[in-house]
Amino acid sequence: MKLRMRREAWLVLGMLLVVVVLAGAIVYSMYLFQQRQQAAQAETATTTAESTDAMPGEQRYARSCAACHGVDGTGRRGSFPPLAGHMPDLVARDGGREYIIDVLLYGLSGPIEIDGVAYRGFMAPVSRLDDREIADVLNHSLHAWGNDEQLPADFESIRADEVAQRRGRQMGPADVHEARAALFDED
Ligand code: HEC
Repeated sequence: MKLRMRREAWLVLGMLLVVVVLAGAIVYSMYLFQQRQQAAQAETATTTAESTDAMPGEQRYARSCAACHGVDGTGRRGSFPPLAGHMPDLVARDGGREYIIDVLLYGLSGPIEIDGVAYRGFMAPVSRLDDREIADVLNHSLHAWGNDEQLPADFESIRADEVAQRRGRQMGPADVHEARAALFDED
């Protein structure tokens, strides 16, 4: 009788052990599952943030500039100035880096002339783009369509912090036009 009770006690203990181990395994796998889900959520959050916010330069150009300056950067004669074959000339001038950043941040209005063709248009600022995007879209237009071959030898890419430094100025499209005139004074 005593022996049997002892054996039953072992049996109960053994079963308890099994239950504890099983419960532990269940809790642990639930924990793992939750962690995996959190990781997956974080990943989707970052990829959606990327796809709605910043765009690489080429995509940004297609979305925000190509309608006027053309997919191939040639613009439209007499209405929209070309960027192909022209951006390097702007950036090579004294103050040229600041000028092209300012065109995007503050816009441009007033008559200009490029290769003997007059433009009397207006470009609205695209300052809602963040610093990185403005730098990227400018770098794209500076390099695309063979422009890279005309860049000054010591040219360095426009940086986001340069864009940040040009923000917050009391400037409008007409002021940028004045700055452009100074850029071409040397001619
Ligand atoms: C709605 C049409 C339009 C869009 C969109 C547009 N631009 Fe312009 N852009 C113009 C016009 C028009 C001018 C010339 C303004 C003038 O005659 O004063 C100009 C001028 C410029 C200039 C100065 C050229 C020079 O010789 O001084 C640059 C650089 C430029 N745009 C780059 C861009 C970039 C990069 C984008 C995209 C982020 C863009 N533009 C989007 C119409 C546009």
